[in-house]
Amino acid sequence: MDAFKELVKSNRSCRRFDNTFALDTQTLTELVELARYTASAANNQPLKYIISCSREQNEKIFSCLTWAAYLKEWKGPEPGEQPTGYIVILGDTTISNNFWCDHGIAAQTMLLGARARGLAGCMFAAINIKKLKTLLGIGDHLEVKLVIALGKPVEQACIDDVDEGGDIRYFRDENQVHHVPKRKLEDLILNAW
Ligand SMILES: Cc1cc2nc3c(=O)[nH]c(=O)nc-3n(C[C@H](O)[C@H](O)[C@H](O)COP(=O)(O)O)c2cc1C
Repeated sequence: MDAFKELVKSNRSCRRFDNTFALDTQTLTELVELARYTASAANNQPLKYIISCSREQNEKIFSCLTWAAYLKEWKGPEPGEQPTGYIVILGDTTISNNFWCDHGIAAQTMLLGARARGLAGCMFAAINIKKLKTLLGIGDHLEVKLVIALGKPVEQACIDDVDEGGDIRYFRDENQVHHVPKRKLEDLILNAW
């Protein structure tokens, strides 16, 4: 349990990567395989995936993402710190029109799998969907649900406890450490019978 807790705690959203580290198709395929084993509403398994570790495709995906809305001065990673791989999570409407929270479960599982391999990543919902669908040639029957950016992390992150009513906005300190405020456990559990 302790090892799993540490894995979950170390699995912070990472937005700066070592661009010299090449991700490969096999690693991304292994992460999708983890998603294959996850829960799915009515066991419909309507999610499909596009994986990319090619520079050309990566640049296209990168151009469709909005990074770290709370970091107003930062427009996203410089070329040397951009992700070296992506997993695009799609909902196949020929299977279902309701994806419930399947994509969240899949995304978190893949991110934990990445973290267990010494990698890190960030999930994105702020996506220019029209542009992404055009650039990647994604068919009309597929809904873009989330994009996961991945790579070897160069960003340091930590968790800060935050009181009720406190500021939940993440920030970077003077050493470029990324701080993530998390509400306290006692403020989350409403009843414990
Ligand atoms: C559904 C979802 C969508 C998100 N979309 C974005 C996004 O578009 N851009 C971004 O930079 N981060 C995005 N994030 C990352 C959140 O900002 C991040 O989870 C939050 O700041 C807490 O940090 P942590 O993941 O390290 O706990 C998203 C996270 C979730 C769960």
